Amino acid sequence: MRFFLASCLAMALVFSMTAQADVAQGKSTYAARGCIGCHGVGGVSTVTANPSLKGRNGDFIRQNLTDFRSGARKNPVMNAMAAGLKDADIENIADYINSLQ
Ligand code: HEC
Repeated sequence: MRFFLASCLAMALVFSMTAQADVAQGKSTYAARGCIGCHGVGGVSTVTANPSLKGRNGDFIRQNLTDFRSGARKNPVMNAMAAGLKDADIENIADYINSLQ
């Protein structure tokens, strides 16, 4: 029983560390991929044509980036931007945006 509790604790620790790493990774991917140029620092856009992402939850970001990538949601700019994203990039960016609430 003690071993079981210790394993749960270890797993929870690893999981929370991984989650934090994803937010940091998402933040750098958001900058490196140029998202920041249109959607702004911290997801706050200063250009009306580009929606702010701050305040959106992770599921929304994940779903919309997946849809832009597959073409299910159509927008020439975002279809091109999402085309180069890997699944891990989308997860990390979604975690990062989600953390900006
Ligand atoms: C050249 C400007 C530009 C760049 C660069 C850009 N976007 Fe966008 N993004 C837009 C525009 C414009 C829209 C609105 C598209 C529409 O009307 O369907 C949008 C929409 C979105 C949406 C949906 C928001 C909503 O409210 O529906 C998400 C999520 C998003 N972008 C994420 C990203 C990510 C992540 C990156 C970097 C990989 C990125 N964008 C790069 C201009 C840009």
